[in-house]
Amino acid sequence: MAASHFKYFLFLVLVTLATLIVIPTTHAKLCPNYYNQVCPEALTIIKSVVQKAISRERRIGASLLRLHFHDCFVNGCDASVLLDDTPFFAGEKTAFPNNNSLRGYDVVDEIKAAVDKACKRPVISCADILAVAARDSVAILGGQKYWYPVLLGRRDARSTSWDAANKNLPPPFFSFSQLLGLFKGHGLNLKDLVVLSGAHTIGGTQCGVYRDRIYNDTNIDPTFAATLRNRCPKTGRDTILAPLDSTSNRFDNAYYTSLLFKKGLLHSDQELFKGSGSDSDKLVQLYSQNSYAFAADFGPSMIKMGNIKPLTGNNGEIRYNCRKINNF
Ligand code: HEM
Ligand SMILES: *[C@@H]1O[C@H](CO)[C@@H](O)[C@H](O)[C@H]1NC(C)=O
Ligand SMILES: *[C@@H]1O[C@H](CO)[C@@H](O)[C@H](O)[C@H]1NC(C)=O
Repeated sequence: MAASHFKYFLFLVLVTLATLIVIPTTHAKLCPNYYNQVCPEALTIIKSVVQKAISRERRIGASLLRLHFHDCFVNGCDASVLLDDTPFFAGEKTAFPNNNSLRGYDVVDEIKAAVDKACKRPVISCADILAVAARDSVAILGGQKYWYPVLLGRRDARSTSWDAANKNLPPPFFSFSQLLGLFKGHGLNLKDLVVLSGAHTIGGTQCGVYRDRIYNDTNIDPTFAATLRNRCPKTGRDTILAPLDSTSNRFDNAYYTSLLFKKGLLHSDQELFKGSGSDSDKLVQLYSQNSYAFAADFGPSMIKMGNIKPLTGNNGEIRYNCRKINNF
């Protein structure tokens, strides 16, 4: 081969390589089989650790689901929520919606250690662990019909923001239009808002959080409110828990039925049903009548939420420890 031909050949090889490498990384999309080659046992291990944690304490499934939500709504699904505060910056853990409220960090650590051990190196991101643990919790607490395929390939953030967590997470006193506005800001629509709020079919909330609702709201069932006031006084006992719906250990559609009877525990829950015949009302009615309709819509909305601004390609990193950014 003449020297100039060889150079041309080399050029073509380089262009081809660059196309193969650069295009998939800059346009990387999440996919369900991301770990099949690098660590085929990853998802099985996550599920078994989640199962064990739920057997120890059933509520932890709810806490893991909420962690994924609070991760995705603050600068995307990038595990920024898991970073501990350092002397140099305040992370999201102490932001108002999270402080003394988010839980499950230790289970995430347990999952990360188990998966990294099996893979013999850290290949799984903490952001993907949150997405899978949320799905597994839903399927374990609700059964197979609530299972959905999780898309994978997220990487972990190297930064976090206390301010962003305060701005981007919905507080329980939000009105319907405030809730919808916030969800739209994250690329989610009215249906996503109603479907994803169905996550409040599991878990609990603290007296200090729902107090205003049971003392000040008018669109609340009086007997329901009176019962709750017995356990949650006007002052004190701030951390006493109440279940978010009547079957808070099971992922089902009872949450929506409770809204029809003005028994939503958070003000934001009851905002989704006011009996005015709105589009939101109609969705609440549908899901309360048909758990299969709820199950069919929940997975796709979770996948949509899980797609909020993931870091892919060369952005971010795969953390060694979910609580800390890598040190090199
Ligand atoms: C629509 C706006 C939402 C608001 C205003 C909201 C607010 C809240 C509040 C205030 C709590 C109780 C916190 C406490 O008392 O410490 C809570 C709990 C919870 N939230 Fe939400 N949330 C919303 C949407 C969501 C979404 C989209 C998900 C998941 C997809 C979710 C999952 C959960 C779960 C599972 C719990 C119970 C956690 C546990 O028991 O540890 N929430 N939420
Ligand atoms: C978070 O909660 C702790 C009490 O557990 C409190 O000392 C601290 O001030 C809170 N942080 C913020 C930012 O509210
Ligand atoms: C209820 O509303 C009153 C009057 O606006 C307010 O003073 C009070 O702090 C609110 N919350 C509770 C729990 O009473």
